[in-house]
Amino acid sequence: DQNKFQAIISHCKEYGFIFQSSEIYDGLSAVYDYGQYGAQLKKNIRDYWWKSMTQMHENIVGIDAAIFMHPTTWKASGHVDNFSDPMIDNKDSNKRYRVDHLIEGFAETLEADAAAALIAQMEELLKENDFAGLKKLIEDNKIKCAVSGTVNWTDVRQFNLMFSTQLGSVSEEASEIYLRPETAQGIFVNFLNVQKTGRMKIPFGIAQVGKAFRNEIVARQFVFRMREFEQMEMQFFIRPGTQKEWYAYWKEERMKWHKSLGLNPANLQYHDHVKLAHYADAAVDIEYNFPIGFKEVEGIHSRTDFDLSQHQQYSGKKLQYFDPEINQNYIPYVVETSIGLDRCCLMILSEAYEEQDLSTAEKQDSRVVLKFPAKLAPIKLAVLPLTKKDGLPEIARELMAECKQHFYCYYEEKDSIGKRYRRQDAIGTPFCVTIDHQTKEDGTVTIRHRDSMAQERVPMAQVKEIVMKKIME
Ligand code: GAP
Repeated sequence: DQNKFQAIISHCKEYGFIFQSSEIYDGLSAVYDYGQYGAQLKKNIRDYWWKSMTQMHENIVGIDAAIFMHPTTWKASGHVDNFSDPMIDNKDSNKRYRVDHLIEGFAETLEADAAAALIAQMEELLKENDFAGLKKLIEDNKIKCAVSGTVNWTDVRQFNLMFSTQLGSVSEEASEIYLRPETAQGIFVNFLNVQKTGRMKIPFGIAQVGKAFRNEIVARQFVFRMREFEQMEMQFFIRPGTQKEWYAYWKEERMKWHKSLGLNPANLQYHDHVKLAHYADAAVDIEYNFPIGFKEVEGIHSRTDFDLSQHQQYSGKKLQYFDPEINQNYIPYVVETSIGLDRCCLMILSEAYEEQDLSTAEKQDSRVVLKFPAKLAPIKLAVLPLTKKDGLPEIARELMAECKQHFYCYYEEKDSIGKRYRRQDAIGTPFCVTIDHQTKEDGTVTIRHRDSMAQERVPMAQVKEIVMKKIME
């Protein structure tokens, strides 16, 4: 549903969630900035992930590695040679396309059976790296192509997705380094540092959240596909031979995590990879049913000992673990979970966004509400004195002072209560509290619930607990 997708993008901009980067200069393609509510939403998701990975797993620790890494890292990891996508250029328009995205675009215009056959054909050719076959497939389908009627295509060729820059000034010995295209390598190169200093015993995990950069060619779809984005990754180090069971374990565990975000299970599915990344021996995606269809949010990959072996070979340093239980030295195997934080934000926004018609016989009315789970909502409580006088703001300020130490609150005294409720609905605040003249008499306030719009009278002294309880759910 493109309309819903566009509505979410507009809403994100209008209410301070996500802006185009450098908008006053007409923006930078596929780069976005998070505004006041977007940054808080993103932080809440990041913190929730971090807690569930590290605090809740005694054998997983978190690190924060640098974005810049020694250039040999990317040689060893295979990214210099393999981290590329087959591209094709339209000679007439000078536009470049990722082959898989172009063919997926064709498929969207076909009937379901024909689309599935086309995708299967493409996946087979991609697996074989059959570039001539891919070009032919594109040419055979060009009539249905949304890009242009007659198209002059170049040959299909590989295009590396890594950004590079220079370390050191030009006059000095400058060396080319890359912006990391995944956070995982910062974990692999620190494997022994963490294992030794943390006295970690296999199986154990290392988690990390951080920026990653990819020079994506098809850069549309809002924060779904960005050139600068954030990943939340966890590498789980295991004994060789146990990868199948750990892969199954994390596959299930991660699905449970998604469901714990309050997502409708019908909007989540697994998708097994046909074409595996250069490092993987098994891989599955967790996909979410975005308004633009089911798409990948997270990948679970069985990476074998590929990365550690490569780093051992390139660095000449032993990256082995002595397993006291079996009295053996080995290079551990790795199962990783890798989720995009920006995609996760978009998933939460898509699930939460609702346009509601509230019209009655008497009057037309509607609202846009973001039904975030309370634990992820940027603002948990809005404190609203009914009027700006009669001592009501002072009482409201007392409640603010008490609550803001525990969670994010928003104080507002302008406009009618109805308008203030709508503004809070639009940013997903689960609770509004109104302080009125009765508050002065009996110390009670009206608490209004976002989703049901139900209002109840409660002692002001209970507000903090009511909100806290909901956040902890
Ligand atoms: N370390 C493994 C790895 O990086 P990946 O499947 O290439 O695996 C993992 O990426 C996750 O990162 C994806 O599932 C997606 O959520 C996110 N991601 C990848 N490229 C992205 C992009 N261009 N924009 C936003 N998120 C992206």
